[in-house]
Amino acid sequence: MYEELSSAILDEVATRTWTHSCMIYRCLKFYRLLLTLIQPLPGGKPWGLRDSDTNYYTDYPITGVTREYDWTITKQACAPDGVNVTCLMVNGQFPGPAIEANWGDNIRVKLTNNLTDEGTGIHWHGILQKGSQPFDGVPGVSICPIAPGSTFEYNFPAELYGTSYWHSHYSSQFSNGLTGPVVIYGPNATTYDIDLGPAQLSDWYHDYYEELLARLTVPLSESPEYPYSKNILINGKNPFNCSNAGDLMCEMAPISRFNLTSGKTHRLRLINTSAESLLKVSLDGHTLQVMANDYVEIEPYETNVVTLGVGQRTDVLIKGVTTSTQGAYWLRAVAPEGCAANNGQNVGKAAVYYEDADDTQLPFSSPWDGFDNSYCFNDPLEKTVPIMSLDPGEPGECVDINMEGHSNGTHGKWWMNNVTAVVNYDDPILLRAKMGYTDFDVNQNVYQYNSSVDSVRFVVKNNNGNAHPMHLHGHNIFVLAEGEGDWDGKIVNPSNPQRRDVQMVRPNGHLVIQWFQDNPGAWPFHCHIAWHLSLGMIIEVLESPELIHTQVNIPSTVSETCRNWWAFNEHTPIEVLDSGI
Ligand code: C2O
Ligand code: CU
Repeated sequence: MYEELSSAILDEVATRTWTHSCMIYRCLKFYRLLLTLIQPLPGGKPWGLRDSDTNYYTDYPITGVTREYDWTITKQACAPDGVNVTCLMVNGQFPGPAIEANWGDNIRVKLTNNLTDEGTGIHWHGILQKGSQPFDGVPGVSICPIAPGSTFEYNFPAELYGTSYWHSHYSSQFSNGLTGPVVIYGPNATTYDIDLGPAQLSDWYHDYYEELLARLTVPLSESPEYPYSKNILINGKNPFNCSNAGDLMCEMAPISRFNLTSGKTHRLRLINTSAESLLKVSLDGHTLQVMANDYVEIEPYETNVVTLGVGQRTDVLIKGVTTSTQGAYWLRAVAPEGCAANNGQNVGKAAVYYEDADDTQLPFSSPWDGFDNSYCFNDPLEKTVPIMSLDPGEPGECVDINMEGHSNGTHGKWWMNNVTAVVNYDDPILLRAKMGYTDFDVNQNVYQYNSSVDSVRFVVKNNNGNAHPMHLHGHNIFVLAEGEGDWDGKIVNPSNPQRRDVQMVRPNGHLVIQWFQDNPGAWPFHCHIAWHLSLGMIIEVLESPELIHTQVNIPSTVSETCRNWWAFNEHTPIEVLDSGI
């Protein structure tokens, strides 16, 4: 199988022609450098006449600029909240480095895996990867894992604009810090003065993910332990109370800070990069104006508290109007009890200061009523209306999906239509489809739709008492309906429903989503909670397999990555504790 796989990919690659003399190549390189210099970030409007109404699924600019990054992943000691733990870091940073680009730029990231006994793979959450499918980066789905000691270069266009993040998609590596913001500047219908940048919000564990998974995945007879988060961090900070640290080494750590200017409007990019926690975000004394959800700009509306499931982003505008003499306020991110397991600090706080405030003093502002409200679902769909309007129409295919949590006889698992999924690191679905295979193991839970089907609707029923942030790769999903119990058949805002890439399904509730089949590829549809994903809550949507076979490009570096992985895995077989992703 392996031999077959690699040679087929190599043949494919050989048919692509790369013709350029050294001269042209050097000229191009110089021209690119020049472009990068004259197109700073953020700045200008390299997208020209395109604006917020432009259909970004069919039309995005090509600026000719490439934003290049050189990353190395290491496993090392860290103490972001003061407690000494083990982190997975890029270039020694936590949170990881931010990706910044203009709409239509190219993003190129050279990634070296310096771990000794773990593969890895980075996923650029929410990027569509049209024409660059293998760079979606999911081990066992779009590519093999990147083996210890090897390097892989991701290369893809910034087709959408707004706020997102990148994260490892190899097992639950992202729970130990392998995440960072992605900001793509583009047109905005709603204007503001100051971009405060990302507020990366995440739960934090004091154990390495392999230990957490080892205790979670034992047979039921050995009483599995569910992972409890210990803290909520804002841009990687929120001091842990060392008197609760037990025998862990702990020191007082710094808090995270933001600055506001009176009379100005600020944009803050909220990103929930947690492993499990749904978060309630608020700023004392200020209402928040919601202007975008995930990569979709919406008609602005006001709220005091933003709800963010794992993987979700919300961009908010904050008017700089100080009402207190202190001029200092807390930004709060709360993981409400009942939406996630936390037995440490479930409130993350960052200090926000106006220009005249004394920033040596902590704020003494009080929270909004309901800042820690405990419902585990998103704002009503009536409120979230995309600026760029699109009608989903009737689906070409409609599929019922049942979500369940129960034992397989010996172990606790999560199920989608009676399958608890695992991926095969050695034999990624996309590459198999590229070679023309349409048969897959049942436990890969592959759902195939040919290109004759123009759109697909999933009617999801959650038959358990947990809420789940459901995410589809390769698309912004139309969110047609969401609520308690069974779907009543009504669509909210049918001519222009909310679109985004993650949507909460509530406990025992339903979620109805739809998407256009405009992107041949292998796209996981999964719960974004690390521990649910690990226990199999995944469907693999194989979109237009016949077009994957004939049209999707697989660069030779992808087969190289598989060969490196096979060699590594043969030499040092990896014990896979979970679904793999
Ligand atoms: Cu944030 Cu499968 O992705
Ligand atoms: Cu879940």
